[in-house]
Amino acid sequence: MAVRTFLHYALEVPDQTVGQRFYEDFGLMDGAGSRDAVRLRPEGHGRDAVLLYGGPRKHLHHLCYGAPGEDFARVRESLARAGVREIDPPRGAPEGGVWVRDPDGNAVNVRDEAAPALPADSPLTLNGPGYVQREVIRGYPERGRRIAPRKLGHVLLFTPDLERLIRFYTGTLGMKLSDRSRGIIAFLRCNTDHHTLALLSSHAPGFHHASFQVGSVDEIAMGAMRMAERGWQPGWGLGRHVIGSNFVYYLRDPGPGFNRENLQHAAVGHSQGNPMAHFDKRQELGMRPGGFGILLVRNLVDELVYNERGNEVILIKYTDR
Ligand SMILES: [Fe+2]
Repeated sequence: MAVRTFLHYALEVPDQTVGQRFYEDFGLMDGAGSRDAVRLRPEGHGRDAVLLYGGPRKHLHHLCYGAPGEDFARVRESLARAGVREIDPPRGAPEGGVWVRDPDGNAVNVRDEAAPALPADSPLTLNGPGYVQREVIRGYPERGRRIAPRKLGHVLLFTPDLERLIRFYTGTLGMKLSDRSRGIIAFLRCNTDHHTLALLSSHAPGFHHASFQVGSVDEIAMGAMRMAERGWQPGWGLGRHVIGSNFVYYLRDPGPGFNRENLQHAAVGHSQGNPMAHFDKRQELGMRPGGFGILLVRNLVDELVYNERGNEVILIKYTDR
């Protein structure tokens, strides 16, 4: 009884054209969308990894897992045993398999499918003390090379009830708990990756990010550079996750920005007299400790100018002062 592979995730987005451009700049290929959804896949894959549906606001549309052969029947039984009612696929979503809602209301599709075959990647050649695999060949890829994700990695979802969701994905769908940090975050897997689904405690369900695997740490940096050159907003990186040891670079996808006047979970959102007031708010929202970023930056520079949407900021430091 277990799902064995993470096949795709689907989002509802206000502008499918912008979403498609984002993912194509990111290196995914147009998988010939239907009239309902834009479909994108890593190059050389026979299956879509991202589906984008049109809708009023950005949110998770559904997740799709594969449970090949006998596993599929067992997952279906397990869902029935747990009293999880099957639902009709959302409008325009791929037919087939079994459709349910997880305890947070996220639509989940499990299909009788194995992981898509991945095109072979040439092994990474590294030099080390006493052995030289690469001589007079520079280490980083050619600048003009197309950086493309090899495969879908994981998604991270917000949840208001971490334990309930862990129980559903492990107990009913058969995933394994790889790691967790108290009541804050949990990492679940259904294949050999450290995690294919991460769950982060919060005040409401939501989609946080998705992750894709590339060929090397150089490709992460080059992919990030290319996205920045094409005008996409950098998020955070280059960094290394503590638990999975993977290198990461976060890119912010096209979003609505935020209202700086109403940041209850940040130090900057409270009166000068009580810069710690946001601690309680963050705890209430299940957020990690923090919230000092804007306050720190505001005190380091002379001017902090946000654009109207609140998704871009200019830092000004006068050198003659
Ligand atoms: Fe991640």
